[in-house]
Amino acid sequence: MLLPVKSPSFIMSLGEGATPLILTRRLNTHFGLHVLRIKDESRNPTLSFKDRGLCAAISKHLELGAEAFALPSAGNAAVSTSAYCAVAGVPAHIFMPEDTPQQFFNDCKMYGAVTHSTPGTISDSGRVMRQENGNWVDLSTTKEPYRVEGKKTLAFEIAEQLEWNVPDVIICPTGGGTALIGIWKGLEELEAIGLIGKERPRLYAAQSEGCAPVVAAFESNASTIKAWDNGQTQAYGLRVPSPFAGRLILAALRRSGGGAIAITESEIVPTRHFVAKMEGIDICPEAAVAIAGLRNLIESGMVDHDEDIVVLNTGAGVKYS
Ligand SMILES: Cc1ncc(COP(=O)(O)O)c(C=O)c1O
Repeated sequence: MLLPVKSPSFIMSLGEGATPLILTRRLNTHFGLHVLRIKDESRNPTLSFKDRGLCAAISKHLELGAEAFALPSAGNAAVSTSAYCAVAGVPAHIFMPEDTPQQFFNDCKMYGAVTHSTPGTISDSGRVMRQENGNWVDLSTTKEPYRVEGKKTLAFEIAEQLEWNVPDVIICPTGGGTALIGIWKGLEELEAIGLIGKERPRLYAAQSEGCAPVVAAFESNASTIKAWDNGQTQAYGLRVPSPFAGRLILAALRRSGGGAIAITESEIVPTRHFVAKMEGIDICPEAAVAIAGLRNLIESGMVDHDEDIVVLNTGAGVKYS
């Protein structure tokens, strides 16, 4: 049993996961790469990779007796929570920064969630949520264990889609770090049950220079992440000034032999449009950060042209338009 829910009756599935690992046909040639794949997480039920973690977490907490949920979110996790709470028929209380694109508020309300618009970043939304002190399970990123458990399925699927091999490199747009931590844990479990060997992909966290606390900590060889002041980026999911699981994020990056890369904010929109024109995929701004990060990694020689690369498209561009 690699996932936490024991009784199938508690699994609130909407058909999350099993997303395609798309072999690029033109972008790879443009970058001079042999193999570049995009794991297209926009195909999940609420159009982002958040569904993996929130399906697992909400299902498991229901099994443990939860009756209501709350979380601070940059947008995608909020929509996902709202949808899975709708399936379960339990209340969802959502706290989002007031400058989050309206579409995210609309989607949460459509699923029946109670939304709160708060000044500042996701950290401030979390503070407001905790002050309310409601009778709910707090689903804040990495403050409970089961969202990361759900994110392990990213590693399971990528390895399975490569016939139980791992790529050389995985690039994750990183905010709170659930994908990075989950992928690393998932690979360890695959090795423990003998489906892969000791080989690991190098994991890279991609962030915008507008809010890059993981990159700053990695580059200064720190073991914890210092809060980033006045974080601003249009890749809203990456505006996490103080990731709670800093130590785990840095450990996964270092143990994998990978690293962290920041790109300039002005690269985000052109990169998103470029990928759409080259591959027919409307990636989210966060994934544009990862693709621009890949370009920087190639130019700086940290990624070789003959390596097998996977980039996560963590969500759908359409929500931000
Ligand atoms: C589309 C998208 N990509 C990436 C991230 C960052 O994910 P994580 O917090 O797991 O690092 C988020 C988080 O909100 C997101 O919405």
